[in-house]
Amino acid sequence: MSQLIVALDVPHAQDAEHLIDTLYDLDLIYKIGLESLFGYGERILRYCQERDVRFFIDAKLHDIPRTVGAAIARLVRPGLHIVNVHALGGITMMREAVEAAGERAGELGMTPPHVFAVTILTSHAAEDLNELGLTGGPGENATRLAALARDAGCSGVVCSAHEVRDLKNFFGEDFLTLTPGIRPAGAAHGDQKRVTTPSLAVEAGSDYLVVGRPIVEAEDPFAAARAILDEMETARRKVGA
Ligand code: C5P
Repeated sequence: MSQLIVALDVPHAQDAEHLIDTLYDLDLIYKIGLESLFGYGERILRYCQERDVRFFIDAKLHDIPRTVGAAIARLVRPGLHIVNVHALGGITMMREAVEAAGERAGELGMTPPHVFAVTILTSHAAEDLNELGLTGGPGENATRLAALARDAGCSGVVCSAHEVRDLKNFFGEDFLTLTPGIRPAGAAHGDQKRVTTPSLAVEAGSDYLVVGRPIVEAEDPFAAARAILDEMETARRKVGA
């Protein structure tokens, strides 16, 4: 069943906490990205734990396997639902991340978080990849890296909702997809180029929809989030998911 993740992309801890309070009655997961993590990481993680809400640490880790494993072990705590790494860190690094997440979760007596892999950043075009020595376009590189992520035991990949169907056909329905770039009909696109509506993302089979500005910058964030959840529910019924 598709779930909604709200990106807490705000500069101050108080604003992030206020958003969690405002949206508290809705069934949501909160995304803590690099801005929040480096700006006020421990504070917001503690707040999520205190309020007993689930969160996704969008850490995009990429380092030698031991370092990534050690970092993941430090991030695992009650409420951590998803954490991610860069697939370009390689299969050994991804395996280490999955193992460290499982081990630490076992020590804490909690369900291990999903480890997702970022394949190719959406800011990278074919020329950027070729400059880095990667031949081929973003699509084929992303598929190759998704296969490595699956072999490493990752739960799934971050991708565009437009890619969900192909990835599921290729790797199976259990390979999860997490899709940013979601805009309700009529919402401003901001810097997102290839957007999808919540209904289309659900119909495509996306497991997690990430939405930031359409909720965070809305005049009424609660109403905005609820409208998206309603749209997702209607789409779910339509596809019988
Ligand atoms: O405000 P908006 O809905 O565009 O926020 C989307 C969130 O998802 C942001 O936190 C952004 O960093 C993240 N993201 C993205 N595109 C990717 C990977 C992550 O927009 N390819």
